[in-house]
This record gives sequence, C-alpha cells and structure tokens, in this order.
Amino acid sequence: MYTALLILVVTCGVSFLSAQNCSVPSLTGTLYQKVDSEPQNLTIEGSIQLEDDSFYLLIANQSLPHLCRNSVNIQYELYVLQIRNVGLADIQPRAFNITPTLGLLKISYNPLTSLKKGVFQGLRVKEIDCSNNFISSIDEEAFDGIPTLEVLRLSYNAIKQVSPEWFKNSPNVYKLSIIFNELTSLPARAFQNMAKDRPVKLRLSANRIQDIDDDAFFSMGNIEILRLNGNKLATLPENLFVNRTIRHLEINTNKLLCFPDTLFHSGVASLAFLDNPTFKCPCLEKVRHFVETQNIYIWYPAIICEDRAREVNIVFNHNKTYELPLILPSTEATLG
Ligand SMILES: *[C@@H]1O[C@H](CO)[C@@H](O)[C@H](O)[C@H]1NC(C)=O
Ligand SMILES: *[C@@H]1O[C@H](CO)[C@@H](O)[C@H](O)[C@H]1NC(C)=O
Ligand SMILES: *[C@@H]1O[C@H](CO)[C@@H](O)[C@H](O)[C@H]1NC(C)=O
Ligand SMILES: *[C@@H]1O[C@H](CO)[C@@H](O)[C@H](O)[C@H]1NC(C)=O
Ligand SMILES: *[C@@H]1O[C@H](CO)[C@@H](O)[C@H](O)[C@H]1NC(C)=O
Repeated sequence: MYTALLILVVTCGVSFLSAQNCSVPSLTGTLYQKVDSEPQNLTIEGSIQLEDDSFYLLIANQSLPHLCRNSVNIQYELYVLQIRNVGLADIQPRAFNITPTLGLLKISYNPLTSLKKGVFQGLRVKEIDCSNNFISSIDEEAFDGIPTLEVLRLSYNAIKQVSPEWFKNSPNVYKLSIIFNELTSLPARAFQNMAKDRPVKLRLSANRIQDIDDDAFFSMGNIEILRLNGNKLATLPENLFVNRTIRHLEINTNKLLCFPDTLFHSGVASLAFLDNPTFKCPCLEKVRHFVETQNIYIWYPAIICEDRAREVNIVFNHNKTYELPLILPSTEATLG
C-alpha cells in the first residue's frame, strides 16, 4: 500500500515538471534553406531554433514526446514547420514562440489526443494541419485569436464534435477539413465564426453524421464546396440552401430520401449523390426536372423508377437517365 502511494506521488511529480518549461532532447532536424535547396541536418538541443531565414524545417522519426512553453523558439523567417512521427503526445500552451508569419504548421502521425486552449496562441500562421493523429478532444478556445489562419485540417483523427465556439477572433478560416473522424451530428451555428468575405470549403466526408441541426449553417455566407460523402444522412436541413449559394454539393454514400425543395432555388452548379439507395422516386424525378432545366453537373444514385402513367421505367445511373418501356403484367400474361 505504501508502495502504491509512493508511485502515485512520483507520477504526479513528473507530470507537474513536464508542464513547465521543459528542455527539448537532442534531435536532428531536416532543414531546407530555400524551396529548391538540398536538405541539411540541423542539430537541435534545448529548444527548436533556427540560425538563419529558412523555407522548411522537418522534424521526423525521432523522439519528442512533449512540447512545452517556448519549446519552439523561432525568430527567423520560416515557411513550413512539420513535426511528424516523433511520439508527440502533449503540447502545452504557448509551445510555439514563432515571430514571423508561418505558411504551414503541420503536426502528423503522432499519438496526440487533445488540442488544448492556448496551444497555438500567439502564432501567426496561415494553415494548421493536425491530420493523422489521435485527436479526440479539442478545447473550444484552441483556434481562437489567430487572424492569419485560413485553413484548418483535422482529418484522420477521432474527433466527435465541432463546436460553434471555434475560431473566435480568427475570422479568416475559409477551409475546414475533418474527414475520417467520428462526428455524429452538426450542432446549431456550427460554423458561425468562419470567413464571411469569401466562399467557404467544408470537407466532412467519412464520418457518422446522421443529424444536422436546422441552424447548423447559420450566418454562413456562400459555400464553394460542401462534402458530406460517406455519412448516415437521411435528410438535409431546408435552411442549408436559403440565402446562400452552394456551388458544389457532394453527398454520395448516405441514406438520403429526398432533398428539401429549397435546393431547387439554390444556384447549385454540381450535385453528386451516388449510392443513396433509399432515395424516393418522386423526389428523384423532381431532381431530374431541375437539372434538365438548369445547367447542372449531376451524379445520380443507381435507381429504377416506374412511371406507370407513361408506361416507362426511368433508369437513373451515374450522370444519365434512360427510359425503357414498362413490361406490364398483362403483356407478360399474353407472352406466357
Ligand atoms: C523558458 O524558456 C524561455 C525560452 O527558451 C526562456 O527565456 C525562459 O527563461 C525559460 N523559463 C524558465 C523558468 O526556465
Ligand atoms: C544527416 O544525418 C544523417 C543521419 O544522421 C546522415 O546519414 C546524412 O548523411 C546527414 N546529411 C548531411 C547533409 O549531413
Ligand atoms: C521518416 O520515416 C519514413 C517512413 O519510414 C520515411 O519515409 C521518411 O523518409 C523518414 N523521414 C525522415 C526525414 O527521416
Ligand atoms: C433569409 O434572408 C431574409 C431576408 O434578409 C430573412 O428574412 C430570412 O430570415 C433569412 N432566412 C434564413 C433561413 O436565414
Ligand atoms: C458523364 O460522365 C462521363 C464520364 O464520367 C463524362 O465523360 C460525361 O461528359 C458526363 N456527361 C455529362 C452530361 O455530364
């Protein structure tokens, strides 16, 4: 019992220390001085620093389990910083003390499970890519106060929800990718803080989304691309298509029954809904009428609809429809 207590005390002590200014272990980074330079080795000791303006610093395949306050301390120009496959499990607030504007910060193939408030605080960066980690928990404030931020990629993680509180004082985020995660719903106002002055690109394919709140897209401007492929959607909210244009909508491999009528006044330029075997025939015919009177790129689910009045089967397949004469039971009887 005393042993157990002792272990507990020691463990707490260690985690307390790791939360402070920690020293980065000895590492070798790969540095590309210019876009077309040969890679050179950069020796890292104590903290991650540069000695000159550079284009790209890659730290890969080594051991860097923690980043603490000021672990990255860069005052020279740098365009890309990538930290890949280094066993990074923990990033403390203000880990990145980088003065110039960074084009891309990429952290991938690490056992990182959370993004805490303040991790990117003070950074001026255009794109943050934290794809291919194990992120399941993100503090609401994690992406706050980064006015330079335009693109956020969080694909291939274990994210269960997006928060309407994301991107406070980060008003320029226009591209958000969260594909291959564990989203099951989109809450009201989910994207309310995204960019208003340019069309937004949202990639939410390969999740388990079955429920989109009626006001999920509240206060968003035009949407250039909305990808919802590979989810579990039966319906889309009517409001999605009201007061905005959605140029390209992809919703392949879902369980859609129909589109709301608001779609037919939405200015959509391409519409893909392959592999929605549940789609209803009357609604499919409305879609057909809509795309044939407008000039819209279409990808239909493979469904055959019977039109008894006109005695035809309408075959919907890929981007085409065919009409085949309906073989009526009476005809079959005469043939037999
Ligand atoms: C923490 O790191 C920064 C930057 O390397 C340094 O200036 C500061 O003195 C350190 N603080 C402590 C308490 O070690
Ligand atoms: C960088 O280090 C690696 C292994 O430590 C070595 O194989 C390589 O030759 C070094 N490259 C340069 C440009 O020094
Ligand atoms: C890291 O490891 C991967 C996979 O083994 C390899 O493809 C890559 O070239 C390595 N990168 C560096 C900078 O060592
Ligand atoms: C669309 O815009 C009109 C006019 O500004 C407004 O009255 C209406 O509430 C808006 N509808 C939605 C769903 O935002
Ligand atoms: C239909 O798809 C085929 C193959 O993907 C393409 O070549 C053709 O132009 C498309 N037709 C229309 C009308 O979009």
